[in-house]
Formats: sequence, structure tokens, C-alpha cells
Amino acid sequence: MLSFDHVYFYYKKEKPILEDISFTIQQGEFVSIVGPNGCGKSTIAKLIDGLLIPKKGNIQVVNHDTKKPNDLMKIRQKVGFVFQNPEDQFITTSVLDEVIFGLENIRVPREEMYDRALSALKIVDMNNYLDSMPHELSGGQKQRVAVAAIIAMKPEIIIFDEATSMLDPKGRTQILAIMHKLHNEGMTIIHITHHMDEVLQADRLLLIAKGKICFDGEPETFFNTVQVEDYQLQQPFAIRLHQLSGQTVALKADWKGAIRAQWSTN
Ligand SMILES: Nc1ncnc2c1ncn2[C@@H]1O[C@H](COP(=O)(O)OP(=O)(O)OP(=O)(O)O)[C@@H](O)[C@H]1O
Ligand SMILES: [Mg+2]
Repeated sequence: MLSFDHVYFYYKKEKPILEDISFTIQQGEFVSIVGPNGCGKSTIAKLIDGLLIPKKGNIQVVNHDTKKPNDLMKIRQKVGFVFQNPEDQFITTSVLDEVIFGLENIRVPREEMYDRALSALKIVDMNNYLDSMPHELSGGQKQRVAVAAIIAMKPEIIIFDEATSMLDPKGRTQILAIMHKLHNEGMTIIHITHHMDEVLQADRLLLIAKGKICFDGEPETFFNTVQVEDYQLQQPFAIRLHQLSGQTVALKADWKGAIRAQWSTN
């Protein structure tokens, strides 16, 4: 579905950002990308979308090469982005128009637009706010509208780049629940985050640091084997709690379950 093959990237030659990065993400995977500030996570997202092109190596997105200008349009139809600040993404004056606007841009037939917008707004539970002004919504609601605008375009991969980091706990929980709902329906999800509590439910975690992939595997293995503090990251709250009480390995299943329960009740 998506592969980086020996990718090198820099903005300024003397300061390499990514050095020989290779990984493959399969269709339907939920992958979290973590790493210290400035390690290149957003750069990876921009490389996937073809906004940036590798200096060396290749990136394939659903059988299209980001280096081929003719492939870029097709890649952008398959990859949706949700950023940190939903405000930056709004252009129109109503929630419905906001979602329709994206569809006009990709030339969806007029008769299809309304249905697609409405069903996307239903998925994020914002279908009762069709006429609301996007700027007057809460942070979490704004982000849900931004997600709906992406879902309506029917991408195959959605990249969430710190999309929960400006939200309050309730807003974060709702966005995470939507991400997992989309994943359960088969969408490939890439979740770039600083919140380590959020990565416990990912299928897979990539740790980027000093231009390299320093870990690629299951979150459980990550937290049991990697000194997360070395990468300016924290252990998830639930794990810290168990470690404080001297319980570690045996409770693995519990902390995952506990967090799942917390999300599903909100
Ligand atoms: N347009 C640019 N020109 C020059 N340098 C850049 C540019 N964009 C990013 N950088 C630098 O490249 C490095 C990687 O940036 P990037 O935004 O990918 O990091 P990040 O891992 O997403 O960081 P954060 O956790 O803060 O979001 C940083 O040192 C950043 O300052
Ligand atoms: Mg970033």
C-alpha cells in the first residue's frame, strides 16, 4: 500500500533529516509514528503526499511513485490529511459547505455531493450542525468537521499529524474513537502523535530519531524494551501507574483493555 525504499531527505544539505529510511505499511494497518520534536515526522507525512520529494530513494503510494509528476494527482486522491489546527483548514461559513467545498475541488458530481457530505458528517457525529459556522464550534467539533471533509473525499489512507494535540480530553477521545472506527472499516491510518497514551492501540509503532527508524513493531514491545525517556517521550499513564505499583508484564492485557474501555464509554 505504501512503501519507503531507502529514502534520504534534507531541507538544507548540511542538515540531513531522514537517512536511509525504509518501511512498508499494508492496507488496513493502524500505524503510530512517534519521535522527538523535529525528528522528521511531519516531513514523512509530506513525503507520502508528494509535497516533498526524496533526495534519494523512492516512495510508492498505492502503486504510484511520488517522484512521477503524473502520479501525484492520483496519490493526493488516495491520501487524506488531518492537521493539528482545524482552523487552518476552514474556508467556508457552514459545516455542510466546508465538506462540500472539498468535494467540489475534486470534481465530484453535484448530485453525489450532498449524500457524501452528509454520510461523512454522520460518521463523525456532526450531522446536526450542518448550518453552524465552523469557527463557532468547539475545538473537538472543528476537528471532527475537518475529518468529515477528508472522509467525504474517500481516501484510502488518512494521516493524522498531531490532530489531537490541541484538543481537550473529550475532543481527543472523540477523534481517537473516529480513527479507530475508520480503521475497523478497513481504512489505513497513520497517526503522528506526542501522546503516548494514544499509541497503545496502534497495530504498529514507528519511532523516528536522528534520521533513522529506531523501532518498528508492536507498542507493547516498544514500551517493554525501549527507554522512551531517551527520545523525549513518556511512558503512557496507565503503564506508569502499573510500574509504580510494581506490576508490569502480567498487566499488559489489562492496561490495553482499560484504555479501550475508557474510549468506548465516551
Ligand atoms: N521548510 C523547511 N525548511 C527548513 N527546515 C525545515 C522545514 N520544515 C521543517 N524543517 C526542519 O526539519 C526538521 C524536521 O521537521 P518536522 O516538521 O518534520 O519534524 P517533526 O518530527 O514533525 O517535529 P514536531 O514534533 O515538532 O512536529 C526540523 O528540524 C525542522 O526545523
Ligand atoms: Mg510535526
